[in-house]
Amino acid sequence: MKRVDDFRLRLGKHELVPIMIGGMGVDISTADLAVEAARLGGVGHISDAMINTVADRRYDTKQVKEKLAFYKYNVKNEDKSAIKFDLGKLAEATRLHVEHAMGRKTGSGLIFINCMEKLTMNAPRETLKVRMAAALDAGIDGMTLAAGLHLGSFSLLEDHPRFRDAKLGIIVSSVRALQLFLKKSARTNRMPDYVVVEGPLAGGHLGFGMDWAQYDLATIVAEVIKFLKDEHLDIPVIPAGGIFTGTDATRFLEAGAAAVQVATRFTVSKECGLPDPIKQEYFKATEDDIEVNQISPTGYPMRMIKSSPAIGDGIRPNCEAYGYLLDANGKCAYVTSYNREVAAHPGARKVSVMDKTCLCTQMRNFDLWTCGQLTYRLKDTSTLDASGQYQLLTAEHIFKDYQFSVDNKVALPEPAVA
Ligand SMILES: Cc1cc2nc3c(=O)[nH]c(=O)nc-3n(C[C@H](O)[C@H](O)[C@H](O)COP(=O)(O)O)c2cc1C
Repeated sequence: MKRVDDFRLRLGKHELVPIMIGGMGVDISTADLAVEAARLGGVGHISDAMINTVADRRYDTKQVKEKLAFYKYNVKNEDKSAIKFDLGKLAEATRLHVEHAMGRKTGSGLIFINCMEKLTMNAPRETLKVRMAAALDAGIDGMTLAAGLHLGSFSLLEDHPRFRDAKLGIIVSSVRALQLFLKKSARTNRMPDYVVVEGPLAGGHLGFGMDWAQYDLATIVAEVIKFLKDEHLDIPVIPAGGIFTGTDATRFLEAGAAAVQVATRFTVSKECGLPDPIKQEYFKATEDDIEVNQISPTGYPMRMIKSSPAIGDGIRPNCEAYGYLLDANGKCAYVTSYNREVAAHPGARKVSVMDKTCLCTQMRNFDLWTCGQLTYRLKDTSTLDASGQYQLLTAEHIFKDYQFSVDNKVALPEPAVA
């Protein structure tokens, strides 16, 4: 009987354990988690979502405070179009985060950065270019292009000296999206080094509509593999979304996948950036506690735990401090919804906004508990301690469980020493 460890992912000269821990913004997939994945011979991701905020928290910069002070005059203004990111500071924050991860990397694995196109930051092209270039400048091993079609992203990068040596991959949820990406990127004469195929059971934003349940990861993966074969393109395919056990992973590897991308199981690892009490919420969640809704201002459906404090919260938009979701015209769907509710409830001290959420503030505060569909099985991966808390797992334990387990088994942790 085969197991994940019988396979290897080849990326250029690298031979890797075929387990990739997916990017989880905002600093849920921490540098610590990525460093562990690399040490164990796989691939880890950091994320550049809300990178200025992450830099402040981790590297003692004051970027958010400075930005808020600069735009303070605009806080009560409904029009947020004047709020821009300082590109130099954006590059600096990215550099600090990448260097922190890469400087501690050991082992034969790699560390990539997850780069979401939908973080439009009131200047989509300029900010994306700076984020990607700064990560490459700072020595990241590779970059996974996420949350968007990224039709122009290779072109934005093609003059960078590392454009051909860094590993660059794209996340798609259909053959069609991959075809479009390849067509639009063809003029750069560079293929992606890997393609992550993310199915409907993943965490975070989904590349599907609200009919997500009609789609099936294995079917889409088979279609992508066939398309690439027909086109004589030798690009590793990496399925993601609902791969919960080593056996699930092995099934994909036997069907021609080059590796798997997994995330949900690592949300309850010690190295994960979620605060510990929230990790307990993930452990406790039942299937009924998980929903896909449309409250993300990005326009993509998003999966989350229904009791997330973010849902219905009518917090005042904080674009002057954050503003990561402002589009090229300075608009965010949450700002529109918030203003509508304020206008409908004159004099109210606080409003409730049900249709959209302030993704920046809520993700910054860990109040939006996005999760994969199989989060409800996390309770089967650990044990309760005497105080009724689930024991947190090490990333190593989870990684090795994927790598070595067979027969749909999940290894429980050693009992914690009192
Ligand atoms: C808490 C959480 C946050 C996530 N955030 C992101 C993100 O910022 N960008 C992204 O491309 N994918 C994100 N994802 C998706 C994962 O990277 C991954 O592809 C997917 O969740 C794998 O499925 P699994 O969680 O069932 O293992 C997130 C997933 C989770 C669970």
